[in-house]
Amino acid sequence: MITLSLAEIAGIVGGQPHDIPDPAITVTGPVVIDSREVAPGSLFAAFAGERVDGHDYAQRAVEAGAAAVLAARPVGVPAIVVDDVVGALGALARAAVERLGTTVVALTGSAGKTSTKDLIAQLLQRHGPTVWTPGSLNNEIGLPLTALSATAETEHLVLEMGARGIGHIRYLTELTPPRVGLVLNVGSAHLGEFGSREAIAQAKGEMVEGLPEDGCAVLNADDPLVRAMASRTKARVLLFGEAPEADVRGEKVRMTPDGRPAFELHTPTGCSDVTMRLYGEHHVSNALAAAAVAHELGMSVTEIAEALSEAGTLSRWRMEVTERGDGVTVVNDAYNANPESMRAALRALAAMGQARGADGGRTWAVLGQMAELGDASLAEHDAVGRLAVRLNVSKLVAVGGREASWLQLGAYNEGSWGEESVHVSDAQAAVDLLRSELRPGDVVLVKASRSVGLEKVAQALLENSTEGEVAGR
Ligand SMILES: Nc1ncnc2c1ncn2[C@@H]1O[C@H](COP(=O)(O)OP(=O)(O)OP(=O)(O)O)[C@@H](O)[C@H]1O
Ligand SMILES: [Mg+2]
Repeated sequence: MITLSLAEIAGIVGGQPHDIPDPAITVTGPVVIDSREVAPGSLFAAFAGERVDGHDYAQRAVEAGAAAVLAARPVGVPAIVVDDVVGALGALARAAVERLGTTVVALTGSAGKTSTKDLIAQLLQRHGPTVWTPGSLNNEIGLPLTALSATAETEHLVLEMGARGIGHIRYLTELTPPRVGLVLNVGSAHLGEFGSREAIAQAKGEMVEGLPEDGCAVLNADDPLVRAMASRTKARVLLFGEAPEADVRGEKVRMTPDGRPAFELHTPTGCSDVTMRLYGEHHVSNALAAAAVAHELGMSVTEIAEALSEAGTLSRWRMEVTERGDGVTVVNDAYNANPESMRAALRALAAMGQARGADGGRTWAVLGQMAELGDASLAEHDAVGRLAVRLNVSKLVAVGGREASWLQLGAYNEGSWGEESVHVSDAQAAVDLLRSELRPGDVVLVKASRSVGLEKVAQALLENSTEGEVAGR
């Protein structure tokens, strides 16, 4: 982060200095919330969580070199005390970004934020020093922490913004005002909390409302609810997608035989071919979105196409494809799941199976609950189970409780019989089943909502195996 004295920080956050011998001492970064990550010159922000209270670690943080603690109460070591640590962290991020003058790119959407953010980062990095949200830290704590990790050298700051309700995106965009604001899609993630897709669109559209006139709203031409957001911004609108009106467009979109997207990329600067290393057709939309951002920031179509063709996954457990020494391929997409991403992943699995040919082994979909779907839950789980059968996936293993039984029942009702679809109670049972059944050439997709923790299955399948190839990373 930029260097700030404790006196300046206290002024920015409106806090009271406590036990500070010298207010001219500077914080040189990083700002951390885990005392184990403290480095000399850090600011340690203490949060009172459900299980752990950061204030108990204040002394340890200062011993490890933290210049001070941002805290809700005096802690006996140098501290700036505020009423609201989250708010103070946000205020500090806002001030730091304002002083840096970096170009801020922010993105939101129901699905694909992290994947697209990682693509944007890989594109922009070619153009200049870029800082981006690590993993999926897209909330009111993760966003300021990322913003505060930018330095005077940082040219681009790429920030993922998540929303669980109305007003959340507005809050985040006010902390780090973007010049380029991207909305990917309006799907059904968190439908239970929002109530309707229109409410989700309302919340996501806050992304473009605060953009300045000389800013750019990057919107999905293929998603009517996103496209309609054009009326909510005074910024210039750049459309991406497959629709003919899209300024940054994918044409001749197809999948390679092993399930990777390939297309002709058109931007106002020309056209160039892209064949991605990433798996799954959902990456077409993500790639076009990233291309639009890169175009807006001055990259040529050939540079963008080359970078998209070389990009891998930066964040874990998203279509992470590993081939074991014995020829079993594990596709770990266990980071999260919603109906759209389940369908995309199943289609990618089917394509990978087909690419292996008739004697290439079987496809396994090891699936668990999609959380937070509210009243739509039964129908959505049923539909995913049915889709697995329609795509000719060889085996469905539904893992977990009630929702898993809906998945399995959907498959059964669609015409799977015997051992083609099974329901097991937990991850261990799935691992036991797979260990005894998998044969060389099989492809196994593992996917469920974050709370299910199905990555354990993928990890167990990869334990002790000599990994042949790790693709897409
Ligand atoms: N454009 C897309 N449409 C549908 N599904 C997608 C899309 N992009 C990625 N996915 C799938 O959605 C899941 C989540 O992807 P990703 O982590 O990129 O999304 P996210 O929006 O960051 O999620 P979160 O809300 O958890 O932060 C992954 O399993 C991925 O395969
Ligand atoms: Mg994310």
